[in-house]
Amino acid sequence: MSLVDKILRKVAQLPPFPVVVQRALQLVANPNSSAQDVVDVIQFDQSITADVLRLCNSAYFSLQRKVNSLREALVLIGFNQLFEIILSRQSSHLFSGPSTGYDLQRGELWRHSVASSLLSGIITKRLGRQPSPVLFTAALLHDIGKVVLSEFVKDYFEEIKKLVQEKSVSFSDAEKEVLGIDHAELGGRITEEWKFPKVIVSSVRYHHAPFSTSDPDETVRLTHLCDVVAMLSGIGGGSDGLFYHSPEEILNHYRLNEEDIERFMIQLEDQFGQVKELLNVT
Ligand SMILES: [Fe+2]
Ligand SMILES: [Fe+2]
Repeated sequence: MSLVDKILRKVAQLPPFPVVVQRALQLVANPNSSAQDVVDVIQFDQSITADVLRLCNSAYFSLQRKVNSLREALVLIGFNQLFEIILSRQSSHLFSGPSTGYDLQRGELWRHSVASSLLSGIITKRLGRQPSPVLFTAALLHDIGKVVLSEFVKDYFEEIKKLVQEKSVSFSDAEKEVLGIDHAELGGRITEEWKFPKVIVSSVRYHHAPFSTSDPDETVRLTHLCDVVAMLSGIGGGSDGLFYHSPEEILNHYRLNEEDIERFMIQLEDQFGQVKELLNVT
């Protein structure tokens, strides 16, 4: 069996992504569906509903009255926040282990994922765009391929490192050359397997090379930008962060300068402090 086949086999061992959230994601990406349609699907999952209601009634939200249903939660906290909480809480278990191949301690990849998703809100606001649950999802899950690839990167680390140093290619290009697949492509395949909307699959697949795809959706480039800013903020860099592509291209594309990045970092720290307990971020 080839190495790539071995890697792809491991994808099947990932814990399944909740079917109800999969369905909700398809609705979120469909402009003809409403927030209510999404809530109607989710409310059939009792454990997700119970989790959301418990949180809505916790000190974190300090709402004036008790929330008894997802419909009430939708009215009180709004669709975007409701969706973000559900998606983040349903994804955290995927990132719970250490990613030793990338030199990331337990929890660090999750921290990087949450930082990227929070940055999606911060950055879209700065760019004068509407917050997007689709971008939030792509940013949160962009490195899902690392969860599977980590153990293989660990086994072939010296070879990958040598290639990066001698040929000065990026870490993900070296992954591809040594392992036959890189974590971005693998993430694309994983999200495809989960039947995620096409735009999320592309955003995950091209999060290191957003200008090399013909997909015109801006989400692809914005996902890369969120990842770049998270890396520049020093969150979850790991070993591949040391050999990241130059961030200039994407920063110039959106006309962002150093001051913008500094402001993003301050806002990120602030938001991180608020969601830490909610999302189990250490
Ligand atoms: Fe990545
Ligand atoms: Fe990343």
